[in-house]
Amino acid sequence: MDEIWNRVSVRRFEKRPVEKEKIEKVLRAAMQAPSAGDEEAWRFYVIEDKELLKKLARVSPYASPAAMAPAVLAVSYDRKALRFPEFGEIDCAIASENVLLELESLGLGGVMLGIAPIRERMDAVHSLLQLPEEEEAFTLIPFGYPLGKGSSRDRFDSQKVHYR
Ligand SMILES: Cc1cc2nc3c(=O)[nH]c(=O)nc-3n(C[C@H](O)[C@H](O)[C@H](O)COP(=O)(O)O)c2cc1C
Repeated sequence: MDEIWNRVSVRRFEKRPVEKEKIEKVLRAAMQAPSAGDEEAWRFYVIEDKELLKKLARVSPYASPAAMAPAVLAVSYDRKALRFPEFGEIDCAIASENVLLELESLGLGGVMLGIAPIRERMDAVHSLLQLPEEEEAFTLIPFGYPLGKGSSRDRFDSQKVHYR
C-alpha cells in the first residue's frame, strides 16, 4: 500500500480550501476503521473558521499547524456510546491513522496533534469546539494541500523484532 510508505506529517499548507467531496472521502475512511466491539463511538468535527483555527493552534505548545491549515479535523469520542470504555482513545487513534492515509491518497496532507490523554489540552479543545458534555476530545488533524513535503524514510529495524 503506497500510502503507508509515502505519508509524512504535513504542517504547512496551500491557502486553497479542500473540496467537500474530498473531505467526505476522508470522513468515510475514518469511519471504516475497526473499533472495540464495533462501538464506533468516534465523532468528527470539520473546522474551517479562521478565528477558531487560530484558537485551536494555542491549545498546546505544538499545535501551531492548526493556524496554517485551511481546515482541521477534530476527532472526539462519546463516552456514553462506548461499550468498552477503556478503548475509546484506541478506536480514535486507529480512525486517525485512516484519516492520514486517505489524505495521502487524495494528494492532501495532515498531521496528528497530541491532545488526549493530556487533560488540560482535552478540556481546551472541548471548550473551544463546544463539544457535548458526554464527549472527550481525542486529537486535532490540520489538513490541506501540502506546501512542500518531506520524504519518508524506511523505519524498519530488525532489532525491534523478536520471535518466540
Ligand atoms: C500521538 C501523536 C501526537 C503527535 N503530536 C504532534 C503535535 O502535537 N504536533 C506536531 O507537530 N506533530 C505531532 N505529531 C506528529 C509526529 O511528530 C510525527 O508523526 C513524527 O515526528 C513522525 O513523522 P512523520 O509523521 O512525518 O512520519 C504527533 C504524532 C502522534 C502519533
